[in-house]
Amino acid sequence: MTRRPYIVGNWKMHGTRAMLSEARAIDRAAQRHMKVEVALAPPYTLIHPVHREAEQIAVGAQDCHDQDGGAHTGDISAAMIADAGAKFVILGHSERRQGHSESDALVRAKAQAALAVGLRIIMCCGESAEMRESGQAVAFVKRQLEASLPPADLMPADVAERLTVAYEPIWAIGTGTAATTDDIAEMHGVIRALLVELFGEEQGAEVRILYGGSVKPDNAAEIFAVPEVGGALVGGASLTVDSFMGIALAASEPFES
Ligand code: 13P
Repeated sequence: MTRRPYIVGNWKMHGTRAMLSEARAIDRAAQRHMKVEVALAPPYTLIHPVHREAEQIAVGAQDCHDQDGGAHTGDISAAMIADAGAKFVILGHSERRQGHSESDALVRAKAQAALAVGLRIIMCCGESAEMRESGQAVAFVKRQLEASLPPADLMPADVAERLTVAYEPIWAIGTGTAATTDDIAEMHGVIRALLVELFGEEQGAEVRILYGGSVKPDNAAEIFAVPEVGGALVGGASLTVDSFMGIALAASEPFES
């Protein structure tokens, strides 16, 4: 890994103000692991409170709307999350693609809206168990990712700074069974080649590609040793400082030994 490993916690629909002490503990622990970039994406309601607590970590959102504003009851725009203190937004998570019928085209529009207000984006992709079993995982993920990312001419010049990709096979999310290191290596290699094809060698080779899906302190080190893994997008194990920082420690160890 040429860049700092990036370890991002996705709290999903977990967390009330009672969790602010955990966020503070994560932030203070992250100050002791400066070779790793640690970030948290709490629910919308905690973005501003976590931002106020945080001295080190960046705070992000788990989604945003594709429009700047208007009659969209219950929705939140990219400008609003930025105003609340978010520096990045996770887009195209499979739980949104499935639970909210988000198409590749909508995810792409959200990405453009987020980039337009200066946010960094974490673009998620990943295949279902059926896709993998039928041998279509690689083709599916390539197609999904290319259709979800804004085209190169609409991306900012500093693509590698603004874009992170997260490969999260749906069957590995929340199941306790992460993808094998062989499967991760294959898919991250394919994603790297696509990023270079889309954005050129200079930027495409530097975009960090995170793995997500049942990352825990006890499997993190072997996952981080896989070529082209630039960090992790962590769900369940990001909810407590001990397990989340156990993962961050696994990412920093190769550099500290
Ligand atoms: P788990 O780490 O709970 O499997 O969730 C992964 C995920 O979906 C992160 O976005």
